[in-house]
Amino acid sequence: MIKVLAVFGTRPEAIKMAPLVKELGRHRDRILCRVAVTAQHREMLDQVLQLFDITPDYDLDIMRPGQSLFDITTRALGGLKEVLLAEKPDLTLVHGDTTTTFAAALAAYYLQVPVGHVEAGLRTGNRYSPFPEEMNRHLTGVLADLHFAPTPKARQNLIREGVPGENIYVTGNTVIDALLATVKKDYHFADPVLNRVDFENRRVLLVTTHRRENLGGPMRDIYLALREVVEMYPDVEIVFPVHKNPAVRNVVAEVIGGLDRVHLIEPLDYDPFVNLMQKCFLVLTDSGGMQEEAPSLGKPVLVLRNTTERPEAVDAGTVVLVGTGREDVCRETRKLLDDPVHYRKMSEAANPYGDGRASRRIVQAILHRYGLEKDPPGEFAG
Ligand code: UD1
Ligand code: UDP
Repeated sequence: MIKVLAVFGTRPEAIKMAPLVKELGRHRDRILCRVAVTAQHREMLDQVLQLFDITPDYDLDIMRPGQSLFDITTRALGGLKEVLLAEKPDLTLVHGDTTTTFAAALAAYYLQVPVGHVEAGLRTGNRYSPFPEEMNRHLTGVLADLHFAPTPKARQNLIREGVPGENIYVTGNTVIDALLATVKKDYHFADPVLNRVDFENRRVLLVTTHRRENLGGPMRDIYLALREVVEMYPDVEIVFPVHKNPAVRNVVAEVIGGLDRVHLIEPLDYDPFVNLMQKCFLVLTDSGGMQEEAPSLGKPVLVLRNTTERPEAVDAGTVVLVGTGREDVCRETRKLLDDPVHYRKMSEAANPYGDGRASRRIVQAILHRYGLEKDPPGEFAG
């Protein structure tokens, strides 16, 4: 029997760890799984916990309005020290690139608890973009013992940095496990605003923004571009679930609040959100996870960032890296609205990120590592 502690704190980590926590739970005979959340996010984390029916064993409740990176790091590090001392796990699992991820890996390392890094090896190569995620992921990789790389490219990045190949497993991304379990054919929204949207006759742009490096001027430029587009095309409608960060909310409301055919709504539960993604015409986002989900649903994505650590969908042709310039965002959006051939090309479904079996591969890898399973998992081919 081994004890595994899963640690996460924000919405995307929760979405991507949920299928894995469930899968660990299916092996109760050999794995005791404990869950600790830092609650770096509060409402947006709770939405996911509720949907996937996960009750954490520890909740550090660290979120504060306008929190700094120092606040998150120190509060998470101190809180997780106590959790790790109480639980003494055989393995700590962390996910991705948030400050919770890094602090959890560091806390485990200080107490000499092995670390498994889920979604390991993604890189932009630019230490300030995304900030601080590129460095969080890199540092977590240095601290980790086991690396669950979602794609062969991520594995290559780790190998290049000197991580021994035998410690890397190419598993696919667990977000695709979550997505495939959640998207339904004939989905009916509970939210009346979404139910009133005419997906047949309108072209719906699904928009989200939250990156720290985009706060302020870049976000304002993005929203100005959206305003231009919506004023130019009478059949375009924007649905924008706005991140809880007040630094995002204030600018969105100021620039595009109150416009006809622009719906600024609260962050959606994962369930309606991905079903909305399935019904929309186009996605504009600075999100990491949505770059992985949308290609699998055949939705073109304009990435509102200057760098991406997810080049696979760019290579597959479903994602374009647009940046945040007003003219660039406007031009690339108009191209997709005006040119059906370009749209068709970008909307061919691609699945470079996973096949829905990532969690199973990760659990098999863990069991194999601890001598509880004869064979290692087969690799996700990409
Ligand atoms: C964090 C992660 C980022 C991830 C993103 C996912 C870091 C440094 N950043 O960024 O990698 O892509 O989450 O969304 O780890 N807030 C609420 N309620 C919530 C969540 C946030 O009110 O449920 C507000 C709070 O005022 C909080 C602020 O949003 O202080 C910012 O949250 P924070 O976690 O610091 O940054 P994110 O931009 O969400
Ligand atoms: N998401 C959600 N509700 C929303 C917006 C996003 O459930 O209103 C999901 C989305 O499907 C994806 C994840 O949240 O799985 C992405 O989170 P976010 O963009 O906040 O973080 P990132 O992926 O950039 O770290």
